[in-house]
Amino acid sequence: MDFTTAQPSFASSPNKHKEMPSPDALLISLVTQLSDPDCRAASVARLAQHLGGKMLIVFIRDPEFGTLLPAPGFPQTLPGGRAWRAFLKSCSEAGKYQAELPYPNLNSLCKATGIAAADGSVLVLLGGEPYRARIGQVQLLLPLLAGVLRGEQTALIAEGQSMLARQAALQAQTLTETLDAARRDLQKAIQLRDQFLSIAAHELRTPLTALLGYLQVLQRRVAKEPDFNPRNLDTISAVTAQARRLNKLTGSLFDLARIQTGILNIEHRPVDLSRLVRQMVDEMRPTLEKHTAVLEELQDEVIIEGDEMRLEQALQNLLDNAVKYSPEGGDITIRLVSDEQFAHISVSDEGMGIPQDAIPKLFDRFYRASNINPRNISGMGIGLYLVNDIVVQHKGSIQVSSSETEKTTFTIHLPISPNTTKPLGDYPIAQAQERSEA
Ligand SMILES: Nc1ncnc2c1ncn2[C@@H]1O[C@H](COP(=O)(O)OP(=O)(O)OP(=O)(O)O)[C@@H](O)[C@H]1O
Ligand SMILES: [Mg+2]
Repeated sequence: MDFTTAQPSFASSPNKHKEMPSPDALLISLVTQLSDPDCRAASVARLAQHLGGKMLIVFIRDPEFGTLLPAPGFPQTLPGGRAWRAFLKSCSEAGKYQAELPYPNLNSLCKATGIAAADGSVLVLLGGEPYRARIGQVQLLLPLLAGVLRGEQTALIAEGQSMLARQAALQAQTLTETLDAARRDLQKAIQLRDQFLSIAAHELRTPLTALLGYLQVLQRRVAKEPDFNPRNLDTISAVTAQARRLNKLTGSLFDLARIQTGILNIEHRPVDLSRLVRQMVDEMRPTLEKHTAVLEELQDEVIIEGDEMRLEQALQNLLDNAVKYSPEGGDITIRLVSDEQFAHISVSDEGMGIPQDAIPKLFDRFYRASNINPRNISGMGIGLYLVNDIVVQHKGSIQVSSSETEKTTFTIHLPISPNTTKPLGDYPIAQAQERSEA
């Protein structure tokens, strides 16, 4: 038999005189039964027999990809997929097509008669000799059957999707529970860390304060010794400087823990910022080696309500940073100006600058920008976090302007309360220092 031609060669029905142009009642009944998924296997065999074949498969178009796929309830995998695809394509193009196809396995070829309906679905009758007239009739009924099968397929897809959605919802719930547990663990760990910080800082400060006291006593004794050796005094000064540094670090840690627990208290008393700034710059100058402190603008009597010790601490952090992050030296420029509502204190340096992407994170705890080498420039990344907290507690704000090629300027804006009077007498910075070390 020549299978390359698209010419169908249907056998004549033995009951030719009984054939009708429209589908007969039996055919309609068989097709109707086929649409019932519960008895499809038996209905398929009966309809195939009625059409003169041994088996049949209905193919419907996949709604997503438009390819022809076996309808639900029919064999879903067929041997020699390529031959089947070519056969279905020829059916769709010619309307009717006959050839041999591998079925039920690759090694056996089976006569196949395909008919395509107007809606694109295809019925393939396998084996036997098809009755030409019944094939024509079933072609008319095929779109109806395909419609039912498509509905079934859509329902199956929807069921699959809803199952997937249910699974996804279950997974999402499990994930949420895991995340919640992880968040609780993290909060607990953070709480423990803050507790540890607070205890460690507190425990360290007590012996350090005592150590600084003993060092002062030792310094006085060494100075009075009859065989006074200045080198001994230098050594004590070096030890004192390191102890002070340690004291400052533990002080920062202590404050950090207090901010976390919300107990960093701020006093509200009149503070003359111009006096505070001048005094700090005067104290800073002798400690500078490569830098020059420039008091570029200093307005007189800028009085605000606040905590002098904490404001000094904030400014000191900015000044320390200005020196620390300009290791080559240069000017450290300080300004204090005010308008009716705010006092503006700025500290600028000519150092390494801050990368733009680091600026929004500068006030986060433990954050250090990527352009610094932590081995060369030490720090814990908490100075600006403390500065920010102090400024916020004074209802002020802080602003940074910097790039890696420009000057870096930190500006603190503090509100001026209209009724604030000048502070009564000077509140010496040394006293504030003592308070911070106490
Ligand atoms: N003037 C500045 N120039 C360049 N970078 C700066 C300057 N001031 C702050 N930074 C950047 O901001 C980061 C955070 O500063 P912060 O003062 O909070 O911490 P630190 O100086 O690293 O350590 P410490 O806790 O000892 O102050 C610094 O590590 C640095 O990367
Ligand atoms: Mg710092």
